[in-house]
Formats: sequence, structure tokens, C-alpha cells
Amino acid sequence: MKIRVAIVGFGFMGQMHAKVYQALENVEIVGIVDPFPAAVEAAAQYGFHATFSSSIESLLNQTAVDIIDICLPTDLHANAIVTAAQAGKHIFCEKPFALTIAEAERSLAAVETAGVHFQVGQCIRFWPEYQALEAYLKSGQGGRLTSLWLQRRASKPGYSQENWLHTPHRSKGAALDLHIHDTDFILHLLGKPHAVHSIGHKVDGAYAHLFTQYHYDQIAVTAQGGWDYPAKWGFQMAFQAVFEHAVIEMDSLTSPSLHITQNDQERVAMPFAKLNIKSHGPTSGNISDLGGYYNELASFVEGIRKGIKPSIATGPQALESLRTVLAEIQSADENRSIIL
Ligand SMILES: NC(=O)c1ccc[n+]([C@@H]2O[C@H](COP(=O)([O-])OP(=O)(O)OC[C@H]3O[C@@H](n4cnc5c(N)ncnc54)[C@H](O)[C@@H]3O)[C@@H](O)[C@H]2O)c1
Repeated sequence: MKIRVAIVGFGFMGQMHAKVYQALENVEIVGIVDPFPAAVEAAAQYGFHATFSSSIESLLNQTAVDIIDICLPTDLHANAIVTAAQAGKHIFCEKPFALTIAEAERSLAAVETAGVHFQVGQCIRFWPEYQALEAYLKSGQGGRLTSLWLQRRASKPGYSQENWLHTPHRSKGAALDLHIHDTDFILHLLGKPHAVHSIGHKVDGAYAHLFTQYHYDQIAVTAQGGWDYPAKWGFQMAFQAVFEHAVIEMDSLTSPSLHITQNDQERVAMPFAKLNIKSHGPTSGNISDLGGYYNELASFVEGIRKGIKPSIATGPQALESLRTVLAEIQSADENRSIIL
């Protein structure tokens, strides 16, 4: 039987998710919730036979749905999660799933009460190069991990609907919107740090660039994330992990993107699980570059099919990532380390 999905918010990320659902077997996009005409125009390119609506409630009155996939501006996530949970629907929500701890806890309580599946779009946990690093760390081949840095840098995003990304109370800036990916991956790999210490650069009241040190025993960990680059600069995600006997380096601006240098050997490309997936929908072609976006949604849908709740990018894990980034913001604001 086909799993029926409604995408709530059909902007940049809603359309990314649509491409993935179109590539998944036995998944059908049955509804789009977005009150803005641009969304209807965008959806026309995808050839959906979906019901359009301006609210989750009115969509659910018209169409049977299994999954509510929330790709709204971040300040609208919590209410949408509660509405979807109260309707008994499984929920995938883009990151960050809330802007405050109170909103996050309210959302998770509704999910818990409803007993539905819930996963957050912390896609780096599913990104092939980052998964290769995780597997290498777990294998123990390189010895102990001694240092790790990650970075995520971008031109100022100019596309967001009603400029919500650059409205601090709607997004909390690059710290919460962009940099949370690396914080979340650090927590996934290494657990909770003892403390964080951050410095940053604010634009219009929110951090547009943040540098953080994460305090762990015997591992030096740092990350930076910023979207204050010139318009044509583009986007880069990168990391460097130094082990006792190896270095692994990832840079999305190079091809190949992943390299390893082991002991006294030459630096070589490091193999990782590449996707080779054809889209079945009107956006036909290879969608392999959707990487983590494909993997995270494929995993979520598979869990629903099998009745197994998500174990990666869960609500409680995403709550810890949110808590850590909020501590980073506090650290930069107060110019002191924050103990976690
Ligand atoms: N995982 C990632 O790599 C990644 C990348 C980009 C964005 N995101 C996240 O995805 C979410 C959406 O970001 P985006 O870049 O797609 O933003 P966007 O502005 O491109 O899209 C938001 C969409 O929501 C719609 N919308 C606004 N108010 C609405 C309402 N009340 N009801 C229904 N629809 C409404 C808008 O019309 C728009 O189509 C954010 O939480 C963002 O942080 C995640």
C-alpha cells in the first residue's frame, strides 16, 4: 500500500523533500499545505495530483494522509507539530524543530501522547561522507580521534519567503538555522560536551557567523558556521578529523569530496556509499546529490512501513542539539563558557 504524504510549506525545502518522495517506491504526495500562490505555481512543475490547502486542519478534512512533512519557516514548526500529532499523523519536521526549549518540549509532549513516529531533518547524520567518518571512527582503525573541526559557510540566503530567515525572532539567524547541522553531528559522534565557548558576528540582532569550541576530554573540537559571504560565494560544508594514525578530510567544494591519509601513505580519495537513484516523478534524472535528504526520508518511510520508530535524528536528540546551540548563542552573547 502506498504511504500518503502531505508537505506543509512548499518552498526551498518542501520542494527538496518532494523530489525525494517522488524517487521513493510506493510513496505518494497527496497534499500540499501552503497559502502562498508561489507554492501552487512551483508544484505545477512537479505534476502532482495533490490536494492544496492553506492549513493542516482543512487538508485533513479533505484527504487521507499518513505523514505530515513540515517544511515551514521555523517559528511555525511547533504549532504544526502539535496539530499533526493531535490528528494522529506521523511527522517529519525540518530542523530546527523549534526555536526555544519550551516550544520543543511542548511539541515532543504532543508527539509522545499521540504515539506517532517523529523525526527531525538533522540530515548530516544521514549524509554519506559524514556517515563514512562515523563508520571509520567506530571501526577504530585510525586509533583515537584527537581533533575534529567542521565548517558550514554560505552566501546570505536571499530566497526565504517574507524574508523569515533574516528575521531574528523567526529563525535565530545562522547559528540556529545553519550551524546547528554541525553541532548536531558533533553530538551524534561524541555525545554531549562538558561546555561550549563561542564568539560570533551579529547582523540585525542574530548571529550571521558563529565559532564554537566544544569541550570534551582529550579531543579538541571546533566548528564554525556562517552565511555572511558574498552573494556569488556559494556554499561549503567541510570537516577534518585527525586520528592517531590517519586524517580524514571532507570538502563539498572539491571533487572527490572525501580524502584519507593513513600512516605514511599518500593522501587518497576515500570511498563512501554514493547514491545512484533515479527519480520516478516528473523531475526525472539522477537525484544522487540529494544524499542525506534521500537517506533520511527513506529511513523515516521505511520505519513507518515496518512499524519501527526512528532511532536517528529523534526528537530528544534534536532537542539536545537545540539546547547546545542556544548555549552557544548565550556563550557568545555573554563572552563566557557555558557548562552543559
Ligand atoms: N535540512 C536542511 O539542510 C535545510 C535546508 C534549508 C532549510 N531547512 C529548514 O526548512 C524549513 C523551511 O525552510 P525553507 O528554506 O524551505 O524556507 P522557504 O521560505 O523557502 O519556504 C517556506 C515555505 O513555507 C510556506 N509558508 C509560510 N507560512 C505558511 C503557513 N502558515 N502555512 C503553510 N505554508 C506556509 C511559504 O509559502 C514557503 O513556501 C526551515 O525550518 C529551515 O531551517 C533545512
